[in-house]
Amino acid sequence: MATYKNSCGVFVLQMMVVALLCLHAQGQGLKIGFYDKSCPHAEKIVSKVIDEVMAVAPSLSGPLLRLHFHDCFIRGCDGSILLDTPTGQTEKFAPPNLSLRGFNIIDRVKLALEKACPGVVSCADIVALVARDVTVATKGPFWEVETGRRDGKLSIITDLRNPGLPPFNANITTLKQSFALRGLNTKDLVVLSGGHTIGTSHCSSFESRLYNFTGKGDTDPTMDQNYIARLKLKCKPKDQTTLAELDPGSFKTFDDSYFKLVTKRRGLLQSDAALLDDPETRSYLVQATSHGSTFFKDFGVSMVKMGRIGVLTGSQGEIRKVCSKTN
Ligand code: HEM
Repeated sequence: MATYKNSCGVFVLQMMVVALLCLHAQGQGLKIGFYDKSCPHAEKIVSKVIDEVMAVAPSLSGPLLRLHFHDCFIRGCDGSILLDTPTGQTEKFAPPNLSLRGFNIIDRVKLALEKACPGVVSCADIVALVARDVTVATKGPFWEVETGRRDGKLSIITDLRNPGLPPFNANITTLKQSFALRGLNTKDLVVLSGGHTIGTSHCSSFESRLYNFTGKGDTDPTMDQNYIARLKLKCKPKDQTTLAELDPGSFKTFDDSYFKLVTKRRGLLQSDAALLDDPETRSYLVQATSHGSTFFKDFGVSMVKMGRIGVLTGSQGEIRKVCSKTN
């Protein structure tokens, strides 16, 4: 989509995007058990492959959960994140997506499904089912995944601009706007940020908090100083390769400890720390770690909502034969 130069143009563009996303924000056409007749074992096949993968490569749980978020937030949950072109101009080549992993696992699931029921299960649905199965594999909640998404035929690198994914240094206003644009509310924002209970981040995604927060060689004053000292041992300036745990101590387990850390000013990313800056998100952080926490249930509900963003259903799009290529 073209970007316009003047601010009025950008506004018009944003309204167009909102209209496009709202058109399908309700996820009409999706349902639980969409493949019950057309491919009765589809969901079992997906979980079997994921169980096999998790047994040998559990560190892929984070990347595979993140994949669904990155798919849905750009052009809707249509599998556009998976597409390749010879020129490398698709979504996956845009900066925030360069750290994504696990595309080969989606291909492996697709191969197993094509063997059982050729041309039936969409890549967009595979991404959604895999996100649920890796959550379960890391001891997180189970939820019923609505299916029936079809695959998009377009993936455009510049779609990652305006409005792209929320950046790692987003403040609470930007985060709320980014989610609202996709029909997700403030509760969804804090609940889904709980996905950071598993996985890792490159040092470069939080380096400025340690070394150059305001351009004066300073640290982020909102971050726990002991935590900063520990992170500095791991991440040297300009480090592009080292990974740090998003939820130190339990980054392989889907639990509520992410919320505990954020309340103690130990959220790794600025976007995590920003959840302390709004009364609603702040009170959820506390609730999520209390005895009567509803986090597990809420996560499933918000994932279903996220999975409805901009979906293609019915006769729209196609069912790709190979997830990285349009038919
Ligand atoms: C609220 C806005 C969000 C922002 C700004 C954000 C940003 C990030 C960043 C910067 C990373 C680290 C990337 C790297 O440097 O390798 C990351 C990792 C991750 N994100 Fe988010 N994220 C957000 C929401 C979400 C949501 C909604 C989910 C899923 C429900 C999610 C799941 C993950 C997971 C699982 C990882 C770890 C990936 C891995 O282990 O490789 N994030 N996120």
